[in-house]
Amino acid sequence: MHVIHLSVECFPLAKVGGLADVVGALPRYQRKLGMDAWVVCPYYDKPFTQEHDFSTVAKGSFFQGSEELQYEIRKETADSLGFPLYLIHIPGKLDREDVYCYPDEAEQWIAFQHAFLHWLKSSRIMPDVINCHDHHVGLIPFLTKYADGFEMFASVKTVFTVHNGQYQGWMSWNKGILLPPFDTWKWGLLDWDGLINPLATAIKCCDAFTTVSTGYLQELYTQANGLESLFSSEAAKGYGIVNGIDDVYWNPAEDKLIAVNYDVDSSKEGKMKNKKAFCEKYGLDDRLPLLTYIGRFAVEKGADLLPEIVATIFSNTENKISIFILGSGDVQIQANLQALLAAYPGRLATFFGYNEGLAHEVYAAADMILMPSRVEPCGLNQLYAMKYGTIPVVRGIGGLKDTVRDVSEKNGYGFVFQNAVLEDAVSAIERALDYIGQRGKMQRVRRKEMKLDFSWDKSAQQYIDLYNRL
Ligand code: GLC
Repeated sequence: MHVIHLSVECFPLAKVGGLADVVGALPRYQRKLGMDAWVVCPYYDKPFTQEHDFSTVAKGSFFQGSEELQYEIRKETADSLGFPLYLIHIPGKLDREDVYCYPDEAEQWIAFQHAFLHWLKSSRIMPDVINCHDHHVGLIPFLTKYADGFEMFASVKTVFTVHNGQYQGWMSWNKGILLPPFDTWKWGLLDWDGLINPLATAIKCCDAFTTVSTGYLQELYTQANGLESLFSSEAAKGYGIVNGIDDVYWNPAEDKLIAVNYDVDSSKEGKMKNKKAFCEKYGLDDRLPLLTYIGRFAVEKGADLLPEIVATIFSNTENKISIFILGSGDVQIQANLQALLAAYPGRLATFFGYNEGLAHEVYAAADMILMPSRVEPCGLNQLYAMKYGTIPVVRGIGGLKDTVRDVSEKNGYGFVFQNAVLEDAVSAIERALDYIGQRGKMQRVRRKEMKLDFSWDKSAQQYIDLYNRL
């Protein structure tokens, strides 16, 4: 069976969030299970495209409104990611340094989707399934059914994976003329509340949709940024499949990005050494428990609570804790954190930006990771953390609820709190500090979570089972 994953992020080509990690791993695991899985992404002007060899396998052009766009399909020659990676090069539209935040986002992703179908058609590529990831490619399930000239794809099954339902790709109807010509009787499938809404379109038109945890699937019926009724009415074709983690990149026993490698049995000394090396680098005290936050500074992730949480925890513990924050995003949140640095020298350190290598070091060094998310479709950081023996302190929502069990439960290995508010987060951190302060407890929990199986094998099979069913 042949599946094409279509996405605008893929690690290590282009990563903004967890979407990239999933698209960069799932296809490799599917191939291990015998599927012919490909990935198609935009060709960005990024280190990955500069450092790898590509061969042009197809060329073409089409009209986007009155503008004629030329495209090239460039295949990564070495298949270095473990699957065929095809990138769509559209000069002036996709060959950019960043993935998001351009004013012509609608034009970008419409061009990407149109070029994709144009290429499949002209090269006579007929996959069994197109697995679209997030709203940027949400028009595909519509276009394969109702766009003029692409009728041959009507029988191709489309699966749409929701990594984040908060973002829907809204565009005003005056962008409609940029789409490939389509059966105008079907315009209602593009519409939600007077706008073209690619996420809504995908949910209406796909053969099945998946969410990246079962907890999140349930939540979408009541909290989906305006699409609750749609998710509810289409519930029969919804499936929750929890993400896995890529154990090639995320394995403390072999990770080349950390100071000292360790496994479950050597985790006590291993983590201690990593912590020492890390704390020395960032001027923190390695004798104190080390708490971290890694991720985007977004309200959705509860990052706006961080400055207050940090100040309160320092005050409640009389500065008997080290805190390291790695992330970027909302400038106000960043400024608020920056302002705290001077008040807690030797206790608080930060890195503002995206730094994959540093994230590995932090997972290896930290004792606890905090995730106070308001929305968390799956969450990968708690999974990476646990694999590295770092105890998760998380809000019990979406994928966090599905993957972290509180120590108060049988076989528990983490700390779960109910609401994304200061008091709940602080009391969970205090509960964790109290717990790991008790003799032997930290190591016991650490061993338990390091042994959990969050590998992709099982979830990759679940995707395949779904494709087969379709
Ligand atoms: C999005 C979600 C995150 C999920 C990731 C990968 O970034 O916010 O929870 O883990 O996608 O599916």
